[in-house]
Amino acid sequence: MGSTSLVSSSSLLNYNNNITTKQVTVVRAVLSSTEGATMVKAIRVHELGGPEVLKWEDVEIGEPKDGEIRVKNKAIGLNFIDVYFRKGVYKAVSMPFIPGLEAVGVVTAVGPGLTGRQIGDVVAHAGYPMGSYTEEQILPANVVVPVPSSLDPVLAASVLFKGMTAHYLLRRCFKVEPGHTILVHAAAGGVGSLLCQWANAVGATIIGTVSTEEKASQAKENGCHHVIIYNKEDFVAAVNTITSGIGVDVVYDSIGKDTFQAFYMPGGLVKRLPSPDYF
Ligand SMILES: NC(=O)c1ccc[n+]([C@@H]2O[C@H](COP(=O)([O-])OP(=O)(O)OC[C@H]3O[C@@H](n4cnc5c(N)ncnc54)[C@H](OP(=O)(O)O)[C@@H]3O)[C@@H](O)[C@H]2O)c1
Repeated sequence: MGSTSLVSSSSLLNYNNNITTKQVTVVRAVLSSTEGATMVKAIRVHELGGPEVLKWEDVEIGEPKDGEIRVKNKAIGLNFIDVYFRKGVYKAVSMPFIPGLEAVGVVTAVGPGLTGRQIGDVVAHAGYPMGSYTEEQILPANVVVPVPSSLDPVLAASVLFKGMTAHYLLRRCFKVEPGHTILVHAAAGGVGSLLCQWANAVGATIIGTVSTEEKASQAKENGCHHVIIYNKEDFVAAVNTITSGIGVDVVYDSIGKDTFQAFYMPGGLVKRLPSPDYF
């Protein structure tokens, strides 16, 4: 079993693990040769808690059964939900468990009789089953999608989950159109960054909120037309000033309790409720 180096950059880990923030949210696994082996290195959680409960250890993954593939990960995406599971906000189905819901890797084995996937395919998955903080993992073949050779696996692993989230938020929950004004909380976070870039490309006016000057610069790079540092100014008042009291068409809130009340309070942000067709 060789070494695996982890390079992380998420704002999530920056909050919780004090790891440097960079543009892309990934763990890049530099993998040793484990061809044919059933024992791999993985990060496991035996008890709920802070980052210190993440343990790097040997685990047995076995061989793929009917409908399954074994994937050797090249890059593993980090998402805020990983922290919810580590802390016990969301309950993992087993204990100990391997966290992680997103990765890109190479298929190293296929289950008996499986067609449609072959050894050497580069594939991505995002969502259940959980367990991507590992060198190799067994996955149902029907949860992976092919990754074109033109796409860097690190990039793919950093945007698939957040990209699908941004898609349903911008195109399905509420369809953002040119001329809309939208508010994006945590505009420099993972989901927030994609929301801002996409909404800017669509032609919306974007107001973003962030916690620091550094994140304000990032939010501007992401395409925000107005950025509010929410712990320096009252963001409800600022949004009402920016929109001349009209309010915004939609609020995307990655934060929750601290910001949620602003939707509904008198003088709040959403003045034009969307049609029920949106839901
Ligand atoms: N990743 C996905 O695909 C996905 C899917 C569904 C739901 N979600 C939800 O969307 C939210 C954002 O997810 P994400 O993956 O974009 O996370 P992220 O990259 O870690 O961004 C979270 C942002 O939230 C802000 N924040 C405010 N209070 C915080 C706190 N106490 N701890 C950590 N961050 C705090 C931070 O921005 P400021 O410092 O500027 O406030 C931070 O940049 C989470 O609630 C997550 O569960 C994400």
